[in-house]
Amino acid sequence: MWFYPKIIAHRGGGTLAPENTFAGLRCGLEHGFRAVEFDVMLSADNIPVLIHDPQFGRTVKGSGQVALTQAAELTSMDAGAWFNPAFAGETVPLYEDVVAFCKENGIWMNVEIKPAPGFEAITAQVVAETTSRLFASEPGREARPAALPLFSSFSFDALAEAKMVAPGIPRGFLLDEIPADWLAQLRELDAVALHTNHKKLTPELAGAIKQAGYGLFCYTVNEPQRARELLSWGVDAFCTDRIDLIGPDFAA
Ligand code: G3P
Ligand code: MG
Repeated sequence: MWFYPKIIAHRGGGTLAPENTFAGLRCGLEHGFRAVEFDVMLSADNIPVLIHDPQFGRTVKGSGQVALTQAAELTSMDAGAWFNPAFAGETVPLYEDVVAFCKENGIWMNVEIKPAPGFEAITAQVVAETTSRLFASEPGREARPAALPLFSSFSFDALAEAKMVAPGIPRGFLLDEIPADWLAQLRELDAVALHTNHKKLTPELAGAIKQAGYGLFCYTVNEPQRARELLSWGVDAFCTDRIDLIGPDFAA
């Protein structure tokens, strides 16, 4: 079952704005998106921030590692200029500030827990605790599932930790390639959905996942024709970088 939006803006504003920034979130919003995926990692002082790569060099200049850098320094780093000089001054956002922005604007969140290698449990623990606190006044997932964000992660250990710390926040397991024991893994995590690379999905696997009662989410779908095909296989939702080509109301 899938109780969440169908089309989700990847990393904020897809390829139209610098990823994992407020400019990206605003861009998604301007394109009518009320559903977003972004990546959350921990700073050296255990503050969750939005960033994809564990090391600097691509979206922020220089060399160094997110996990070894204090949040105060991270949040002063330019995360926009690499994309386009017009975005210079966009900084690495704090997860808490992003949650506040999404709540204010009615944006549903797929929070990808993206631990730096070796920081799986602590990252999930802090993100789960923070999210629990920020959504303490929301109804449980049975009452209104889309009132809560959905965690996802490629790290089984991170999701197992999130399950322990915040069992009420639902989880989707990210699998680049779907292994033979996918069902056992989803059950162990008490996950609600399987998130996978659409390039490796088959109609048979999609059918089996749906038959087993799980939500099925694909990343990252950028061509309308492919999107229609996936939806015809029973895929419930996907994220896209091409928020200009595939709108929030895209239909099969
Ligand atoms: O959650 C879907 C997608 O974001 C996973 O891959 O590398 O873009 O975080 P990545
Ligand atoms: Mg991601």
